[in-house]
Amino acid sequence: MIILGIESSCDDTSAAVIKDGVLLSNVTASQAVHEAYGGVVPELASRAHQQNIVPVVDHALKKAGVEREELSAIAFTRGPGLMGSLLVGVSFAKGLAASLNIPMIEVNHLQGHVLAHFVREEGDEHKAPPFPFLCLLVSGGNSQIILVRAYNDMEIIGKTIDDAAGEAIDKCSKVMGMGYPGGPIVDRLARQGNPKAFQFARPQIADYDYSFSGLKTSFLYNLRDWVASDVDFIEKNKADLCASLEYTIVDILMKKLRKAAKDLKIKHVAVAGGVSANTGLREAFQEHAKKYGWTVYIPKFGYTTDNAAMIAMVGCFKFQDRDFCSMDKPAYSRVDI
Ligand code: KG4
Repeated sequence: MIILGIESSCDDTSAAVIKDGVLLSNVTASQAVHEAYGGVVPELASRAHQQNIVPVVDHALKKAGVEREELSAIAFTRGPGLMGSLLVGVSFAKGLAASLNIPMIEVNHLQGHVLAHFVREEGDEHKAPPFPFLCLLVSGGNSQIILVRAYNDMEIIGKTIDDAAGEAIDKCSKVMGMGYPGGPIVDRLARQGNPKAFQFARPQIADYDYSFSGLKTSFLYNLRDWVASDVDFIEKNKADLCASLEYTIVDILMKKLRKAAKDLKIKHVAVAGGVSANTGLREAFQEHAKKYGWTVYIPKFGYTTDNAAMIAMVGCFKFQDRDFCSMDKPAYSRVDI
């Protein structure tokens, strides 16, 4: 079984090859063009995907030492994501599958993030979570607690009612005049700051749901007042602001996750998505493992942001169930897991 995975849901063009469950290659072309705009510009993203898709797939196949004709199936991200970006990957997958006369496997991008924990590399000491497990999926577009009963049986038990955690970090970073995406910058600066230096609003939301818009507004309004009395306030306090912001967001995320784990009596807990690269969040997971007896699953950095390895991984699961799709499946921009 040799699966080619293709991912193009946002601003990363990625292709990966998995053979008999082992990852042979995972090639990603990121798009620096968006940095100047402080966010992803959809039209520029789809154009860059068009430029990148052929060399990225070609590179992934060469790196894996696999000929096109050896492929068993093509797994592709059908959604959710930016429509123009998705169309490039979906159309390419259809064209290649038709020319090779092999089946296509549609993949939900969010399921891909959750199942990234199953990606296995040669010689890897690999520990995949057993079912059922909980997964905290945190990215620029999502903040969800997912109950994963099987690879194809996932339930969102909690989600943000407004902004995603990554979106809040990126926006706060923007108001501090820092670059895009803000997450890695905030992470780096937070290491040198005091996490208790500043307090920001915390949401009072029921059940396992999240909210980050109040925190974002509180950050903005506080900053506006502080800068009004000292124009150099941000420059002088950047590290403390970042550390306090990160601390508050991680605390909000972990509190609901703890509640879910306790209520459902689940001790296998995973984290996925772009924000799972965050140092403070990773440390919080390790602390929870010690304190609450959790077994935690933290992805390698390469599988935190968008990548095709996770798409090919879902493809492997679905291939075994002969869960193929027809050529007429369009991309979708919005859908739950
Ligand atoms: O999953 P992802 O690559 O894709 C989208 O959702 O688009 O997540 C991107 C998000 C961005 O908000 C980015 O700022 C955040 O992940 N991120 C981080 C870190 N690295 C990326 N947030 C906090 N700390 C990081 N080290």
